[in-house]
Amino acid sequence: MIRTVALVSLLLLAFCGKVFAEEPQSKIKFPENYKTDFVNYLSLDRTQNDDQIIRLFASEEVLKAVKATGEFPDGAVIVGEIYKAKKDEDGEVIESDLSRRIRDKFALVAVMEKRKGWGEQFSEEFRNGDWDFAAFKPDGSVAKKNLNDCRKCHAPLTDTKHVFSYEHMK
Ligand code: HEC
Repeated sequence: MIRTVALVSLLLLAFCGKVFAEEPQSKIKFPENYKTDFVNYLSLDRTQNDDQIIRLFASEEVLKAVKATGEFPDGAVIVGEIYKAKKDEDGEVIESDLSRRIRDKFALVAVMEKRKGWGEQFSEEFRNGDWDFAAFKPDGSVAKKNLNDCRKCHAPLTDTKHVFSYEHMK
């Protein structure tokens, strides 16, 4: 009996290991300096979530390179600060006089970073050139997110280098 339990546990462990192995973890470190050194090039009510707001940041050098060449340099970092939108007592999202959502709790820091060779580990479905993705809590610790969801949704955007806000960086 004990042997069976041990065997089942081992099999379970092996299975979990496989599942985790299929979702490569990110090499991206929290970009501590984005608040002081990056430019807030766009802020908007999120298009895929009806109760969130996103503020987008990139460095002056990256924005200049994209304007000049249309390409992202090696080492480029893009940060999205995600906020919950303010809601009324009934849980409905409140809009301002500008018909925009209003920022409430700071929820997540979504990051993309491009490094030579980073894309090689991914299958076509999850590959975004040499970009990878990471999610952090506002305090900079790693947030539990399925990074393959990020990779899968950005991957089809080949015309805009896998960046939804590409047009706004130029
Ligand atoms: C279902 C599609 C979808 C998923 C899943 C998704 N994103 Fe995005 N992402 C978007 C869209 C659309 C934008 C443009 C801004 C907006 O509407 O939120 C965006 C914008 C971004 C940006 C700013 C650069 C850009 O592309 O404009 C970053 C950084 C980012 N996402 C990171 C992430 C991370 C990290 C995850 C996973 C934790 C993730 N995304 C998951 C659709 C997605």
